[in-house]
Amino acid sequence: MLPCAERVVASISRRLFRSYLSVSSRRRCNITAFMPEAAGFDGVSDRSTLQDFSVSNSEKFWAAAARHRLSWIRTFDAVRDCDLSRGKIKWFEGGKLNVSVNCLDRHVHTCPDKVALIWERDEPGSEVKVTYRELLDMTCRLGNLLRRRGVKRGDCVTIYMPPCPMAVASMLACARIGAAHNVVFAGFSAEALSERIRDAQSSTVITVNQGVRGGKLVELKKTVDEAVQSCPTVQQVFVATRTENPVLMAARDVALDEEMLKEDVVCEPEAMDSEDVLFLLYTSGSTGKPKGLVHTQAGYLLYAALTHRYVFSYQDGDVFGCVADIGWITGHSYTVYGPLANGGTTVLFESTPIYPDPGRYWEMVQRLKINQFYGAPTAIRLLLKYGDQWVRKYDRSTLKTLGSVGEPINTEAWEWYHTVVGDGRCPVVDTWWQTETGGICISPKPSDPDAEIIPGMAMRPFFGIKPVLMDTEGNVQSSSDTSGALCIAQPWPGMARTIHNNHQRFIETYCQPHPGYFFTGDGAYCSKEGYYQITGRLDDVINVSGHRIGTAEIEDVVNQCPVVAESAVIGYAHDIKGEGVFAFAVLKQGVDTQYGDVSQQLKDTVSKKIAKYASPDHIQFVKRLPKTRSGKIMRRVLRKIVEGDLEGLGDLSTLDDPTAVQEIIQGNSELC
Ligand code: PRX
Repeated sequence: MLPCAERVVASISRRLFRSYLSVSSRRRCNITAFMPEAAGFDGVSDRSTLQDFSVSNSEKFWAAAARHRLSWIRTFDAVRDCDLSRGKIKWFEGGKLNVSVNCLDRHVHTCPDKVALIWERDEPGSEVKVTYRELLDMTCRLGNLLRRRGVKRGDCVTIYMPPCPMAVASMLACARIGAAHNVVFAGFSAEALSERIRDAQSSTVITVNQGVRGGKLVELKKTVDEAVQSCPTVQQVFVATRTENPVLMAARDVALDEEMLKEDVVCEPEAMDSEDVLFLLYTSGSTGKPKGLVHTQAGYLLYAALTHRYVFSYQDGDVFGCVADIGWITGHSYTVYGPLANGGTTVLFESTPIYPDPGRYWEMVQRLKINQFYGAPTAIRLLLKYGDQWVRKYDRSTLKTLGSVGEPINTEAWEWYHTVVGDGRCPVVDTWWQTETGGICISPKPSDPDAEIIPGMAMRPFFGIKPVLMDTEGNVQSSSDTSGALCIAQPWPGMARTIHNNHQRFIETYCQPHPGYFFTGDGAYCSKEGYYQITGRLDDVINVSGHRIGTAEIEDVVNQCPVVAESAVIGYAHDIKGEGVFAFAVLKQGVDTQYGDVSQQLKDTVSKKIAKYASPDHIQFVKRLPKTRSGKIMRRVLRKIVEGDLEGLGDLSTLDDPTAVQEIIQGNSELC
């Protein structure tokens, strides 16, 4: 159940929104104009019957979509061969295609001069436009270069770059020659990068000399140099040029721009099997090292394209502005693959929401005439605090849809996004999904144009998605107006296929908790009307500024500090970031006199070993952690203390030493 206050707000907002809807147009559209492949679907006359059809006739639905939306070298023999209980997921077997051809060549045939990418560089007003023809040329040259330098089908290339055309060309060049890519967020530290290169066994890395973000230079090549020292597999590092500043080039380093010029602009695409790997993308789980989720060719591309088209009502000619970094799944699916598969124009955002000032997004919307804007609640909450004037200053009349992703959007942020940014006329789509799902699974759209949208609710399942909620006993909740663990009852083409080199972990994490269902790790509430609201993670994964991180990963790093005996990390509600990081650390004997320094040292260590966003906001030094008699840290108790909910500490009878809790409460009240 939603907390009571939230439900009241939701119901008031719903009423307000209904009245808004009552004055909006009540168009009913012709279903085949809406989705051409629906022409062959029996009994489908409107969007709601189309949704039902897509779930109950999933194979027919996806087969028609795959034929209609993708260009195949050889058509598929079977639509799907899946057994969720065993983690077996195969779509469109027998089919052959090339993802780069789908994203580039077919559009070059029809509209070579259409702008594919708008690179919104850090310096406002210095955007660079790249047409489909130009992007194909770049991709082919890069594909030829990779091939000439020994990269083969099935290899995995690590890309450590900020959003820029060369990063997109690198991803597509890999796809063209049949190599998988492994894009690592350029905010990750050398250690985090090196761990991902090693796990992916990459022999090739692509990077830039320096990044530029928020007016500052970021030493990406230096970070790669440091990372590859502990990566024996790496034989070559391609270095693109973003700034004029020269960087040290070692024997294994290759000047990418220069070398590409020597290559031909024609590069024969590999005919890839539908289930060949397209990319790995590392993400955090509740335990262990980050896992390399594997996405494959046809199913992923189809799902990215279809969700991009229908969730955002993307029309030919629109400019799509997804401001996520390409190092995350949002950047993969909605900056690169979805928009390009649909022949769209997509923005690559290199900067920050407040550089050079808090009007950056909206000045960009005006200058680039963006039609769909897709961002994270954390940025919306931050901008809201700067006031409406930064928004109202700019013309946002091109905007048609506003999207939100990565974390729950609170009602205040939702309302501001809707009324101030969107002038009350653009639907806000709160999209729920994950690295694992490949694309959006729950969102207000597609739906009839006049269907209601409730602030803060992700609302409706996408085509082919059948969400179910499980109770604590693992039974499917049969009624609505209920909460539970969010699972998906049948496979869909965009879902991850495995964890790189660890299928058993994939099965244990996603398939075994609720056999026959895909378990998402999130909790959700389903209203009487069948609308979904995500209530948060059910495991020890937290979401800091829309970035996912396992508390165990942070603890691991904190525990490695020589002064620390042990630690426990939890997430707590944070005004801007959604969740902040709170660490409790027990220091080794003799170091407890230098709290200030130690605290900064621990924060710096986490920044250096993982990334800045993972660094604790607060560290409380404690004599001991609350543990059960079997030695398990009771994080639930720590969460309640940080929330200030001492009444809600719950059953403490299993505690090994109840005085630990009193000490922590005392220390916490002094700290906060
Ligand atoms: O907890 C959910 C939260 O982000 C997690 C997925 O993180 P990641 O794989 O990094 O992908 C982020 C971009 C899709 C989910 O398990 N999450 C994502 N979208 C929402 C959300 N929580 C609430 N509302 C959302 N719209």
